[in-house]
Amino acid sequence: MNKKLLVFNWKSAPTTVDAAIKLARATENYLKSLKPKTQNLKPNVVIAPPFLFIEEVGKFIKKVKLGSQDVFWKNIGPYTREISLRQEKNLKVKYVIIGHSERRRILNETDEMINKKVLATLKAGLKVILCVGENLLIRKRGKKTIENFIENQLRKDLKNIENLKLKIENLIIAYEPIWAIGTGHSDSPEDAVEMIKYIKEFLISNFQFSNIKVLYGGSIDGKNIKKFVKYKEIDGFLIGGASLKPKEIKNIIKSII
Ligand code: PGA
Repeated sequence: MNKKLLVFNWKSAPTTVDAAIKLARATENYLKSLKPKTQNLKPNVVIAPPFLFIEEVGKFIKKVKLGSQDVFWKNIGPYTREISLRQEKNLKVKYVIIGHSERRRILNETDEMINKKVLATLKAGLKVILCVGENLLIRKRGKKTIENFIENQLRKDLKNIENLKLKIENLIIAYEPIWAIGTGHSDSPEDAVEMIKYIKEFLISNFQFSNIKVLYGGSIDGKNIKKFVKYKEIDGFLIGGASLKPKEIKNIIKSII
C-alpha cells in the first residue's frame, strides 16, 4: 500500500502560540516514536496552523511538514492583510491548502481567484492541496449532478495548468463534501471512493494527469478513519477538528500504519 498523506488543518485554532507549539510537539513526538513494520507505512504528516503561528510551529517540527491554509498569488505589492507566496516560502511552508470550502463559502473566494493561487503556488515550486466538494443541495440531486459540479470546479481551478511545467507530485486534490465538514457525519467510505475514482479519471482524461493524489476530508476522526484507510484509492486525509486533539492524532496516525 502507498504511503498515506495526513494534512492537519488547524483552521483558526488554537488561540495562543504556546498552545500551538504544544500541539505541534505532540504530533511531531508521536510521529517520531512510531515503529511501523515497514518504513513505507509511516505516513507523511503536514500541519497547517493559523498563519500567525507558522513561524514558531516551524521551529519545532522536523518529521512533520509545514503547510499553510491559504496564500495570495502575488509575491510583493500593496495587498492589505494578504500573505504572499514568497513570505510563506521563506517560512519553510511546503504545502498550501487552496480553495477550502470555508473560504469559498464565507469569504466568497471565486474559482478565478483559486485558479490564480493554484498556478502561482505551483510556479513557486510548492505543493498545492486543492479542495473541491459539493454542498448538501447538490448532493441530494444525485451522482451525475455531483460529478458535473466537481468537474466544473476542477476545470476552472486548474485552468491553464497545461502551460506550466508541472511536477505531478506537487498537485494534490482534496475531495471534501461540504455537508461532511465539521458535522460529525463523514461521507461513507464507498461513496468517497467512488468520487475519488471519478476525480482521478477526470484528471487523466482532461489533463492527462495520472497518479495525482486525492485525499478525503470531512469529519474524519481516530475511529472512523479505520473504515477508509483500507481503500487504496484514498491517498490520505485532510482533517480539521480531530487534528486539534492529541488522543485523536495518535489514533489517526496509528490506524494508518
Ligand atoms: P473536519 O474538517 O475534519 O473538522 O470535518 C475538515 C476540513 O475542513 O478540512
